[in-house]
Amino acid sequence: MIIQTVACIGGGVIGAGWVARLLENGINVNVFDSASDTQQKMQAVLSNADRAYAKLTMAQRPSKGAIAFSDSMQAAVENAQWIIESVPERIDIKHGVYAEIEKYAANDAVIASSTSGIMPTDLQRNMLHPERLFVAHPFNPVYLLPVVEIVGGEKTASVIIDRAKTFYASLGMKPIHVKKEIEAFVADRLLEAIWRESLWLIKDGITTTQELDDIVRFGFGLRYAQMGVFETYRIAGGEAGMRHFLAQFGPCLKWPWTKLMDVPEYNEELVELIAGQSDQQSGHISIRELERIRDDNLIAIQQALKANDWGAGQVLAEYEKKLFDDGARSVSTGNEVDYSEPILTTERRIPPDWTDYNNHMNEARYLQCFGDATDAFMRMAGCDAAYIESGSSFFTVETHIRHLDEVRVNEPIHTKTQLLAGVGKKIHLFHFMYHADGRLLATGEHMLVHVSLDTRAASFPSQAMQAILSAIAEHHARLPIPDGAGRAVGQSRQH
Ligand SMILES: NC(=O)c1ccc[n+]([C@@H]2O[C@H](COP(=O)([O-])OP(=O)(O)OC[C@H]3O[C@@H](n4cnc5c(N)ncnc54)[C@H](O)[C@@H]3O)[C@@H](O)[C@H]2O)c1
Repeated sequence: MIIQTVACIGGGVIGAGWVARLLENGINVNVFDSASDTQQKMQAVLSNADRAYAKLTMAQRPSKGAIAFSDSMQAAVENAQWIIESVPERIDIKHGVYAEIEKYAANDAVIASSTSGIMPTDLQRNMLHPERLFVAHPFNPVYLLPVVEIVGGEKTASVIIDRAKTFYASLGMKPIHVKKEIEAFVADRLLEAIWRESLWLIKDGITTTQELDDIVRFGFGLRYAQMGVFETYRIAGGEAGMRHFLAQFGPCLKWPWTKLMDVPEYNEELVELIAGQSDQQSGHISIRELERIRDDNLIAIQQALKANDWGAGQVLAEYEKKLFDDGARSVSTGNEVDYSEPILTTERRIPPDWTDYNNHMNEARYLQCFGDATDAFMRMAGCDAAYIESGSSFFTVETHIRHLDEVRVNEPIHTKTQLLAGVGKKIHLFHFMYHADGRLLATGEHMLVHVSLDTRAASFPSQAMQAILSAIAEHHARLPIPDGAGRAVGQSRQH
């Protein structure tokens, strides 16, 4: 079942993060929040998410979903197939919200709570249709962090858990099913342990907030980002692995290394101490700016892990593979593709780190844009992940780019592609890069050869692909030869 409309009830920190992730994945969202300033606050999160997604993936993303701010619970949920509740962490508020939802929503609309720690069995206690409620516990920023803990209550139907895993994976997330419900689930239980220890370490004057953060981010925090707890310690045990590690550090369990059973008293003095140090550490940077720095770091780590085909980077790679294929399908399916014109192959905004010292897009990114356009064209012709897996692909053998006009950060561009020749083992592509205001910014010309990945030699495309390419080539042969086609560097315009 394809989810088209989701209702987000509660649009604070977490609700806004869900809204952003859903919109970026092309899903329409109805928002209902009892506060009057939600719309304005949410815009800031949506604009940060827009900026982040432009950097997170080069794949063509679905067109953004539509957002509607509802003035009643009824308007928000009556046409929603999926309802995400992110209201404050108080069971009485959540129970009240579910009673309202059940008045107006379809009986089979799924309800996902973002609760950080209330057990789903307690949440579903007064519900008419408790089988559709479960917990989907995300992490801030919801639009960037892949993990989501899925927890069912005693009455949750197992089919709902299966649907939840599929749905969140389709949003580029990594759903983890926590099979036994406990308060605070898994992640917050771990985080609470480190938080309590941290409060003691500051209160006892062992470190400052700055020193403690440095110890995390320059050390084990980097390890956690890619191997977690157990794989990391397995390596720490050397050749003998985990057994040796446990033997070596097992006795420490009895030593008074932590204060986990004891909690510092929460009082004004503790608040002043922690908040004062934190202001000194980061007070010179606004929260919005910190959010953007955090987002850039999270993107960089995920992209680095993608290059290593590891952990969160694998989730991103899978998500992009799907986006690339879906983007190609949306261009190639149905009758809407008009072969009588160059074909729209990519659309994007220029990300902040694509520019040079003049604030213009740098040369390497022009090549990247045209490479992406070639990829999109190839996928449209059927050269998708499955085709490559089956042992064939196209290799680019020659490229010529003309830089005609300037383009700056955040500006919207798109590419259109004309097939100059598409019969046999070679294809000859000509890309036009346009600004949304109509200016032609650049052209890119590519020669590609179809190859067998087994022999690495030129080979014929599949019959189905040859049929698509011939159809496009036949139509595009009627178009004028583009200005600049066949030029080499330095030729005068008359050539
Ligand atoms: N903040 C986090 O890091 C985090 C992480 C994961 C999960 N959560 C969970 O997500 C949920 C929301 O947390 P948050 O941090 O977004 O809180 P928040 O205070 O930022 O947002 C809550 C929103 O709910 C709205 N609201 C209150 N009562 C409502 C009602 N009856 N109907 C509609 N809207 C109502 C409020 O106006 C507010 O905008 C909580 O259950 C929390 O435990 C929080």
